[in-house]
Amino acid sequence: MSRKIAVTSALPYANGPIHIGHMVEYIQTDIWVRFQKLCNNECRYFCADDAHGTPIMLHARQKGITPQQLIDEIHSEHSKDFADFGIEFDNFYTTHSDENKALSEYVYSKLKDNGSIATKTIEQAYCNDCNMFLPDRFIKGVCPKCGAADQYGDSCDQCGATYSPTELREARCAICSSKPVRKESKHYFFKLSKYESQVKKLLESGHAHKSVANKIGEWFKSGLMDWDISRDGPYFGFKIPGEEDKYFYVWLDAPIGYMASAKNFCEKNGIDFDQLWNSKEWELYHFIGKDIINFHALFWPAMLMGAGFKTANKLFVHGFLTLNGKKMSKSKGTLIKARTYLNHLDPQYLRYYYAVKLSDGVDDIDFNIEDFIARVNSDLVGKLANLSSRSVPMLKKKLGGKIIAMDEQGKELVSKIQAQKNSIIADYESLKYRSAMRTISTLTDEVNKYIDEKQPWVSIKTNEKETSETLSAVLNAVRILTIYIKAVLPDYAAKIESILNIKPLTFADSDEVLVDHEIEKFNRLIERVEMEKVEAMLEESKEEQPQEEVAAVEETKIELDEPLADECNFDDFMKVDLRVAKIVLAENVEGADKLLHLILDIGGIKKNVFAGISKAYKPEDLLGRLVVCVANLAPRKMRFGVSEAMIVAAGPGGSEISIISPDSGAKPGQRVH
Ligand code: MSP
Ligand code: ZN
Repeated sequence: MSRKIAVTSALPYANGPIHIGHMVEYIQTDIWVRFQKLCNNECRYFCADDAHGTPIMLHARQKGITPQQLIDEIHSEHSKDFADFGIEFDNFYTTHSDENKALSEYVYSKLKDNGSIATKTIEQAYCNDCNMFLPDRFIKGVCPKCGAADQYGDSCDQCGATYSPTELREARCAICSSKPVRKESKHYFFKLSKYESQVKKLLESGHAHKSVANKIGEWFKSGLMDWDISRDGPYFGFKIPGEEDKYFYVWLDAPIGYMASAKNFCEKNGIDFDQLWNSKEWELYHFIGKDIINFHALFWPAMLMGAGFKTANKLFVHGFLTLNGKKMSKSKGTLIKARTYLNHLDPQYLRYYYAVKLSDGVDDIDFNIEDFIARVNSDLVGKLANLSSRSVPMLKKKLGGKIIAMDEQGKELVSKIQAQKNSIIADYESLKYRSAMRTISTLTDEVNKYIDEKQPWVSIKTNEKETSETLSAVLNAVRILTIYIKAVLPDYAAKIESILNIKPLTFADSDEVLVDHEIEKFNRLIERVEMEKVEAMLEESKEEQPQEEVAAVEETKIELDEPLADECNFDDFMKVDLRVAKIVLAENVEGADKLLHLILDIGGIKKNVFAGISKAYKPEDLLGRLVVCVANLAPRKMRFGVSEAMIVAAGPGGSEISIISPDSGAKPGQRVH
């Protein structure tokens, strides 16, 4: 009977691009999901962007857009990156959704009702200039252990020490550099200790790999602390019911985002969500990286238990990707974005390479450039894809293009491959991809050996039937190996299916063989990796300006030509109504040597403007351009007419003036803040 299986990958932060480190997880999960589907199980893969939290709020602020705009932008980038790597989600949603809000409130209310929520007043770092509490990552100072400057409030990059922000020397706000103060605030806590024995039992029952259970065991030993699940505003997230300016901490609603993505999928597809998420009929698996074990092996199961939901069947944890043995680093230019990779290389290489490296353990995996090229070129292209290029063109062009019955030796070869089916299935099921790839590679070697022995390029001169038999065995072998590797290489498999002229393969097809079967013509399957392309990818990664983290705002010293004007308060500023406008007419003014006559369209309202910019701009360059104008400036009578608004420009005047234009997305009439 076929199984019903729901699967999740950790939700990537909607705060930056996907990189090839993340891809370890999405490729690992995608292979598993595709494998389940190839076993004819009903398997659904859910994910979403993790859209809440302080960094996202500040990042949006820094870019001058709303958090919603930022997370929308990132969502479409992430979706595209995943699609291009062949990651086939059943739903890729967002945690900033109605479903997630409702589910988060539901889980919270359940926990509250059963006495699992406490409130406590705590003291935290607060920036009086930014008017906000500062998360540890937004406090910088001197490491109390080694004295390194410019370290975060929670840990030191230089010596690896971890500490609390109060221990940091010369602490300052990472956003504005002022000295934080201590301030009290009421916080909500989840009483984890209530679930200690239940979670312990879960982990003892084999919920996760031994090493993961051991790690959690250490936390149990040091005692479970209540978990702070609230944050004060300003914050981008869901408001805590009954509170005005307190929000759920992003890590409360993030895992609930798994449920919300599933729920959204169920609603769109007429599936019973409660059944899918909370019944024994459906199995549930979470894939995560080792850095977020505490959230998934401790907090999350406890939350689920407290709110009356079942916990996952298993938590699968993988290690971290290193590049040539080193941690990838944005500032050193060794962090390769998914998009940068795709600009130069075939995604199938990476899927294959990760499969070759992955096991069920949590050890880190290394992307070693030489090894990557060798694995792909020798095993994938040189051995596996080569089986088809050695046999298809000959059979198609010279022997009539038909697979016929195999001879005894061919049958033996094919049965030998078929015999590995269960071991391959067991390896995929238990995440031992490396072992599955090794089996496939050994079988591939045997087929190549068979071709070398049979020498079809020689036998074709004397015995066409025997040659057809040989090639038929090779192609039957190719067909079964394709089933075995299809979860890893869906594109390659699709090409083989079309060359062999067969329907999409599943594991159930591996017991059959093709006889009396017409094939299509050969089509190139996969190209060799070229060193130059890999180098170009590494080069592009280096060139990408390491984006300053939101927190790290550099001090810049500017010499001002004009000193800053006296301070104005917010209300004064709001009196100035700045609007986006479109220049719909621009002409020279006869008799005036500096003025241009403009008509501005401010979203339907037209205004006449005389602007002193003719030394810097020609009328024809201005027509149709978006500008910013002071729309409520009192009309001024000038020598050549009445000016009813003013366009905003920088510079001292004359030819040295530049008009301030909004990006093309702005619309005439929109207010500029
Ligand atoms: N938003 C949280 C997860 C919330 S799940 C309810 C998060 N996001 S993340 O973008 O930082 O990471 C997403 C996943 O990618 C995590 O499982 C993380 O372990 C994994 N990886 C991030 N960098 C990685 C490597 N360098 N190598 C392997 N996996 C990596 O954590
Ligand atoms: Zn500040």
